[in-house]
Amino acid sequence: MRPADLWRHSSFRLAIGVSLFVVTTLMLASGVGYGLMKSQLAARQDARVTEIFAAIERTILEGDEDDLIEAVDARIQASPDRATAYGLRSLDGRLLASNMGDVVVPAGWSTIEADRIGVATDYPYRVFSGEAGTYTLTVGLTNADLDDLQEIVLAAFGWAALASLLATVGAAMVLASRVQSRIAEAEAAAARVAQGDLLARLPITGRGDDLDRISQAVNAALERLSSLVEAMRQVSADIAHDLRTPLNRLRIHIEGAARKSASGQTAEDDLAEALAQSEMIDQTFSALLRIAQIEARSRREKFAPVDLAVVIADLADVYAEVAEDAGMTLSTDAASPAWVMGDRELLTQGFANLIENAIRHCPPGTAIHCAVQAIGNHVTGSILDTGSGIPAGEREKVLRRLYRLESSRTTAGSGLGLALVKAVADLHGADLSLSDARPGLRVELRFAALHNAR
Ligand SMILES: Nc1ncnc2c1ncn2[C@@H]1O[C@H](COP(=O)(O)OP(=O)(O)O)[C@@H](O)[C@H]1O
Ligand SMILES: [Mg+2]
Repeated sequence: MRPADLWRHSSFRLAIGVSLFVVTTLMLASGVGYGLMKSQLAARQDARVTEIFAAIERTILEGDEDDLIEAVDARIQASPDRATAYGLRSLDGRLLASNMGDVVVPAGWSTIEADRIGVATDYPYRVFSGEAGTYTLTVGLTNADLDDLQEIVLAAFGWAALASLLATVGAAMVLASRVQSRIAEAEAAAARVAQGDLLARLPITGRGDDLDRISQAVNAALERLSSLVEAMRQVSADIAHDLRTPLNRLRIHIEGAARKSASGQTAEDDLAEALAQSEMIDQTFSALLRIAQIEARSRREKFAPVDLAVVIADLADVYAEVAEDAGMTLSTDAASPAWVMGDRELLTQGFANLIENAIRHCPPGTAIHCAVQAIGNHVTGSILDTGSGIPAGEREKVLRRLYRLESSRTTAGSGLGLALVKAVADLHGADLSLSDARPGLRVELRFAALHNAR
């Protein structure tokens, strides 16, 4: 990664931001600490000056002027480098003892340059001048130690700030390039997906960190997407394949009609067949379209509380006679209320398809039973018959569009009834299950119950 690129990465900017914050905080804290230390040291120096002043003052009380001059001279001898400056005058201004020349210092505390008292350093002196008995006494201390210390401390703080800045920036770059290389891998995978490779997946390190979690979520979405695309591919292939048969039949009838009318025969029968065939194709397309529409409904706009027991009871009323005409019996066990959240029209159509299937695909003498049960958090609606049933291996397949059992090829229908039931179940978030009713078929839809619907 080029340094110029670094700035474009949020991880790097974040790390730099944090390190600048840390360094600024460090410098502020150092500044406060330095200020405290400086005032502490200055106070000490003043205390030291005061102490010396008091000691000399005591000598004045204890002896005569010679003793005093001697004591001050002794102190002057003890400070050959003039780190401590002394000046003693009589009140009339006569200089009695001094290692700071004939400098007159204002009374009280002051700070004076070293060259004023003839010392060749850059460090100023902290000076106190006041009356001691019948004398004027001046005591000064060089700032050299204090200034040296200040310099050392400032340098230490400066180096520490620089070192921590370098260390955090270095760490930020390492961190950013690590995160960046993972993001680059994810980008590459996303680019492959964009080019149509639905099998590409984002890399997972297994560390379970946030990038891993995002990658897992994206991979799960890709998984779902690719299986949907695969299913769509399959469906369109199936539809194209299955529609060839009725289209071929249509062509045969039209050809027959053309041949007959060419030879002067009446073509009425063939034309009627062709018409019936084209109507059937039209119905098939309408049904396919309807299923697609149900599947496409993302919003459940027409959903309202529906009592499934009422839906089934109404259907049973409508189909009782049809079943009877086919030599079958139709019974109902639907205890109201059994509220679900749903689209009444679609639910009615779905269960009607199931009852019609039982009537259409079962032999005379079959008993059909419609049941609705509300147990706990679920409402189940089921249609059960005592017909030939569907072999276990076929129960998934009959839910596909246009799929029919071999034995049903000759019965009317287009193989879309159960596909619609499946679409309705999915839209309602209901579980659809086909099982063996020993003998016969039991189709059940299990919904989430809607409590307190009214
Ligand atoms: N109650 C049933 N008993 C036996 N077979 C059934 C029953 N319901 C559906 N089937 C089988 O499942 C196939 C698919 O049903 P469906 O999708 O409704 O299409 P269609 O009824 O138009 O054939 C039917 O062709 C039939 O073979
Ligand atoms: Mg059907």
